[in-house]
Amino acid sequence: MSRPDDYGASAYDATPFLPHGGGLEAYRRAAEGCRGCPLYENATRTVFGKGDASARIVLVGEQPGDQEDRTGEPFVGPAGRLLDRALEEAGIDRGAAYVTNAVKHFKFTVAERGKRRIHKAPSLREVSACRPWMRAELDLVRPEVVVALGATAGKALLGSSFRVTRDRGSVMPMPGSDDQRCVVATVHPSAILRADDRESAYAGLVSDLKVVARVLDGRA
Ligand code: URA
Ligand code: SF4
Repeated sequence: MSRPDDYGASAYDATPFLPHGGGLEAYRRAAEGCRGCPLYENATRTVFGKGDASARIVLVGEQPGDQEDRTGEPFVGPAGRLLDRALEEAGIDRGAAYVTNAVKHFKFTVAERGKRRIHKAPSLREVSACRPWMRAELDLVRPEVVVALGATAGKALLGSSFRVTRDRGSVMPMPGSDDQRCVVATVHPSAILRADDRESAYAGLVSDLKVVARVLDGRA
């Protein structure tokens, strides 16, 4: 007999946990109980998106980090602080954005000595499993621009052929959208914290975000 946590070969899927209607709050509450893949088992809580349902811009990261897992809010740790600074420099108001992640639970390994939790990249199966939550958020918010922060978000939004180095900084159509909605991709803020040349990596992020600012101003 199969148990609810007994996943088949490709059975990771958040779909059975999604509500049938309701607004962002209904989805947020339902996501707290998601067991669509094994990542809920070790994480503290679901980190759902945060922001206004009428936001013109949605920022999509990879997955919550240590501090996001503790607080329940996306992009509040070191990567979030860097993102805040870059957004401000590009002239984008984070307060007016809806911020979320492609995957809603923190995936990590624990360092052998000590208790530090080290980020581990989500697998393709986990990203696919979690995608219905992101799709629901995008359907409910219907932003003009979606910003993909890094490869995981880019692939979740645009498919597996997405490449950050090739696709970053250009205005791409939102797949499946019948109107003017678009996607702009850039690097993940955490990649800047790890970069050898932080300054130029950071300048690249700001430059990509300025493309987003131009879209919002109707100049791109
Ligand atoms: N990195 C992400 O991709 N998302 C967060 O919320 C925090 C760090
Ligand atoms: Fe559900 Fe996504 Fe969490 Fe997996 S990572 S349990 S699909 S919310």
